[in-house]
Amino acid sequence: MKLLVTGGAGFIGSCFVRMALRENRAAKVVVYDKLTYAGNLENLQPVARRPELRFIQADICDGDAVETTLRDESPDAIVHFAAESHVDRSIHSPAPVIETNFNGTFTLLEAARRFGIKRFLHVSTDEVYGSIEEPLDADENYPLRASSPYSASKAGSDLLALSYFTTYKLNVTVTRASNNYGPYQFPEKLIPLMISNALEDKPLPIYGDGLQIRDWLYVEDHCRAIFATLEKGRPGQVYNVGGNCSLPNIDVVRRILQAAGKPESLMTFVTDRPGHDRRYALTNEKLTYETGWHPEVGFDEGLAETIQWYRENREWVAHVKSGEYQRFYDLNYKSRG
Ligand code: NAD
Ligand code: DAU
Repeated sequence: MKLLVTGGAGFIGSCFVRMALRENRAAKVVVYDKLTYAGNLENLQPVARRPELRFIQADICDGDAVETTLRDESPDAIVHFAAESHVDRSIHSPAPVIETNFNGTFTLLEAARRFGIKRFLHVSTDEVYGSIEEPLDADENYPLRASSPYSASKAGSDLLALSYFTTYKLNVTVTRASNNYGPYQFPEKLIPLMISNALEDKPLPIYGDGLQIRDWLYVEDHCRAIFATLEKGRPGQVYNVGGNCSLPNIDVVRRILQAAGKPESLMTFVTDRPGHDRRYALTNEKLTYETGWHPEVGFDEGLAETIQWYRENREWVAHVKSGEYQRFYDLNYKSRG
């Protein structure tokens, strides 16, 4: 199978590409990525010499570039990861988030329709459900109630993708995954930020009371779920992908400090995120029932591997932090006190 992977130089997309090539799951993998602050060719370095890999630096909002790529490469499937993925950035600066996540997805869907692409997997998120009331775990029919510009842009693109199945019979499948963690994650998200600050003995900024709940999914488990969906998922369907691991943020931070051998005095409570969703929790029953997939990596094991990776890859961290990272860090945290 020939895959076109948008956002394949980012955190999850690059894991998917490394796995696809390492496990010989694809005859060719074409990565289509704009290389924003979050895209990094170092993430593809372990497979960079594989002849099956091709990299194209381009924007999913650029219709001409998308069409040229589909014409030249004729992929069997598009796996669409490319997005502006950070909630806090979407609050400070929503325009690029709407442009890439909604208009970029529209551009891809239109080209996929025109070129008769046989499979389109849209990678969505559990954030489209908004905060989930206890004691429920959301299934795929839970109402969509996005809270941030990021989640609204993902909900919009998720529905748009499904409309291309209903209206044009484009073979679209949507996955909605929970919070991913693992190696190569840009250190703006909770787990890599807390690990990298802890390793540098810097304060760990916890929003509000730290009792917000997230469901944690090891990135390789997410990618295995995407392979399972590509293989066995039904057209026009939505599949939740959760880690069966709901934890309050403060517990996650404590576990990081403990595993890294750092003191709890590094924890700092700062002003909350506006519109902060209190709880995410998913049921995976549909995906497990239809494909046999289930998460394999427990949180303690995944966290230990992730901390080890950040310890061993300080150059990668230093490199990604040397760009515009500091400007965003100051913007996001200085005003929080
Ligand atoms: P990321 O920010 O690490 O990577 C995004 C990638 O997309 C980068 O390589 C970037 O260069 C590329 N990109 C951004 N705008 C682009 C554009 N206009 N054209 C082409 N490429 C562009 O994101 P991630 O955490 O790997 O998330 C990947 C996908 O998974 C996103 O769609 C996100 O919404 C979804 N998702 C993420 C999580 C999570 O916890 N990180 C959970 C569920 C779903
Ligand atoms: O649920 C899936 C979503 O998970 C994905 O769709 C998004 O792309 C991904 O960024 C993530 O969104 P969150 O907002 O849940 O992730 P983040 O890592 O930004 O925050 C996780 C929790 O930690 C959240 O409750 C906010 C809190 N937090 C985050 C940061 C960055 C803090 O307390 N302090 C922080 O500095």
